[in-house]
Amino acid sequence: MKDSLILKALHCRNFEQRPPVWLMRQAGRYMPEYRQIRTKHTFLDMCHHPELAAKVTLLPIDMFDMDAAILFSDILVIPEAFQVGLHFEEGAGPIIDRPLKTPRDVNQLPRIDVHESLDFVAQTIRLLKPQLKVPLIGFCGAPFTVASYMIEGKSSKTLQQTKKWMMTDPTSFHALLKRIADASIDYLNLQIEAGADALQIFDSWANFLSAAHFEEFSLHYLKYILDRLNNKTIPVILFCRGSSVFAPKLAEIHPAAISLDWNADIAHIRQILPPSIAIQGNLDPDILYAPHATIQHEVKRMLDQMQGQPGYIFNLGHGICPDMTTDAVRVLVDTVKTYG
Ligand code: CP3
Repeated sequence: MKDSLILKALHCRNFEQRPPVWLMRQAGRYMPEYRQIRTKHTFLDMCHHPELAAKVTLLPIDMFDMDAAILFSDILVIPEAFQVGLHFEEGAGPIIDRPLKTPRDVNQLPRIDVHESLDFVAQTIRLLKPQLKVPLIGFCGAPFTVASYMIEGKSSKTLQQTKKWMMTDPTSFHALLKRIADASIDYLNLQIEAGADALQIFDSWANFLSAAHFEEFSLHYLKYILDRLNNKTIPVILFCRGSSVFAPKLAEIHPAAISLDWNADIAHIRQILPPSIAIQGNLDPDILYAPHATIQHEVKRMLDQMQGQPGYIFNLGHGICPDMTTDAVRVLVDTVKTYG
């Protein structure tokens, strides 16, 4: 496993012609096979049942021969374990039934024992490992992004309640971030123990933060988490929406890799980051709507830009959307795999 393309790339020791490739949200609604399973189960049921979660994790590996699997789960299983009530509504996305409103709500959050409340994730990983020939990426949300869901109660386009809380009462906001960070450490350590080969932390809403607030309310907790993982040889990838801007700051806390959103020129970011940190990304996901020749052209352009660079992992700048096609994804992956 340690000779896999992706683990070598995460250690900046890959010298093959082509980089490894996997895609954020590679197991999802754009796949007819996924939609078929989804007609019989809710999304959360699929996460909670190890056999189903393992089966769905394997779909994109079997269909596209991706170089890594990502655990089928969600960043919101942490709020669920905090018992704020989580369900998903068709069209509306995640809903938290009892969003946090006051510092008292933070104080009253229960202690989480991940071995109890998130054991289904460990079971999924243990089921998957013997079936996988490629590394398995475990994950969690970054404390800032997870806090935003616990406060807003749903996907928000403005993060108004979250930022209002952050600005008016930073002390209790920090207390919430610390509670989430502590739970995330236990959760990632559980995933490492169960057999995850690499980890990714998603800070999907970090782009709402100024540079100084990013350091105070996001980066600080990312470092807090990295410093407390039980196995320091497991590579950790940090993804932010906003990583084009925050990449140099992210590099200061020494993750194995930084996953770039699609706004930055990846070759430029490569030049300004230490060579010991791998880079993942950063094709605009909407290119998957373009004609196949355009997809091939854009993928090749990025591969040309990064040619000969160890420590590069091909990915999108964010996730695949439900209305994209499996044909488009196949064209993308095949273009990477046949490069060079
Ligand atoms: O394939 C993979 O990438 C692995 C599984 C995965 C999911 N969610 C599955 C999922 C991962 C890594 C996530 C992370 C996640 N979840 C993030 C961070 C990454 C990002 O996209 O920024 C966030 C913010 C969430 C929260 C969340 N979960 C949202 C906003 C939604 C979409 C709601 C909607 O209806 O559009 C989900 C649901 C979700 N997570 C689905 C999947 C496959 C779709 C569920 C369904 O079948 O209805």
